[in-house]
Amino acid sequence: MKKIVLQFLVMMAIGSFAFVGCQKSGSGGTSSTGTSTSSGDSSSSTLIGIAMPETHVQRWQKDGAALKSYAESRGYRAEVAYGDADQAVQNRQIGNFLTNGAKAIIIGSVNEGVISAVADAAQDKVQVIAYDRIISGSADYDYYITFNNFKVGQFQGQGIEQGLNLKAATADAPKTITLFAGSPTDGNAFFFYDGAMSVLNPYIEQGVLKVVGPYPQTSKDSANFQRIATENWQAPIAKTRMENLLNNDAKDVVLDAVLAPNDTLARAIIEACLADAKYTSKLPVVTGQDAEAASTASIKNGQQYMTVFKDTTKLAEAAVILADQIVKLQAINIPGATLASEDLLSIGDTGKKVVKAYLLEPILITKDNWKVPVDANFYTTEEITTNGLK
Ligand code: BGC
Repeated sequence: MKKIVLQFLVMMAIGSFAFVGCQKSGSGGTSSTGTSTSSGDSSSSTLIGIAMPETHVQRWQKDGAALKSYAESRGYRAEVAYGDADQAVQNRQIGNFLTNGAKAIIIGSVNEGVISAVADAAQDKVQVIAYDRIISGSADYDYYITFNNFKVGQFQGQGIEQGLNLKAATADAPKTITLFAGSPTDGNAFFFYDGAMSVLNPYIEQGVLKVVGPYPQTSKDSANFQRIATENWQAPIAKTRMENLLNNDAKDVVLDAVLAPNDTLARAIIEACLADAKYTSKLPVVTGQDAEAASTASIKNGQQYMTVFKDTTKLAEAAVILADQIVKLQAINIPGATLASEDLLSIGDTGKKVVKAYLLEPILITKDNWKVPVDANFYTTEEITTNGLK
């Protein structure tokens, strides 16, 4: 009996030690992949759960940190978790937020498999905000906040139009391009692609721009879209695909442009090009998005051609304002965000209902205005220095 009591006491001690350990590791900053952190002034304040999809694309760490800090500055407790691009992991994290009594959950989802966790939230009367990525196939939530993603794609198309001077190109000397898309599990990837192709298709039809490799005219051509898509936005997949293109379909041409859907993939594609003698002195015009510090440095140095600056600090602030107003049952009014209507209404279409979609505006960045994100305090001095920006 004595032995059992002793064992029990030891277990209790280990348990409380582990609990203190968890609290400690969670008390500052954001957590590493798959774990969550929380802080706030009092345990009686309302909890907001923040579920971010992944850490391998830099922006999400920034988003998670900004969301947490805005939530706390409005008096909430905030827990952040990163899903490691694994929906099962993210669903468990959302489940934990519910167990911990969250009143609202802001979700940048991994893929459509999130809908079961969203259904659980609805059952508990917890408000879900789809953050940056729409949650398709669900009627269990009402709000979505994002950037105008079709416009992001249009900017990428315009970058290529400008970089190749397509307006002056002729069918006798057509320019060449190869196409990449983002993850087929992410609804945004379709908007980005369709936005870009809305600018590029007319040039392809005129014969002044030739596609090397698969050519889905729009994302609706699923078979070809799958061939150019990059599962889970993984840079190694894009790099390998670029290497294969260079050794096969693009072997006998010099590519003038590559449509790359974000900065992480753009840099992987550039890396593959730089390993090919044809491109060591002149790279193709490569697009991007996210204005990551490394890509802004690359643009300034004349490698990557353009990026799209989506001020995710503003997105995070807007999402917290939205959560605050929903939780307090107030009228919704988010400075800097516009409610999608008319031809943009489809942005909020989950396939099961049309949720209210609030949109922020992206900014096209080239060598001419690379300082815009720096002036917006989007980078710390340290990040800038690390990437060689002076
Ligand atoms: C986001 C992009 C990001 C990509 C990969 C998209 O849903 O809108 O900003 O680069 O996911 O994480």
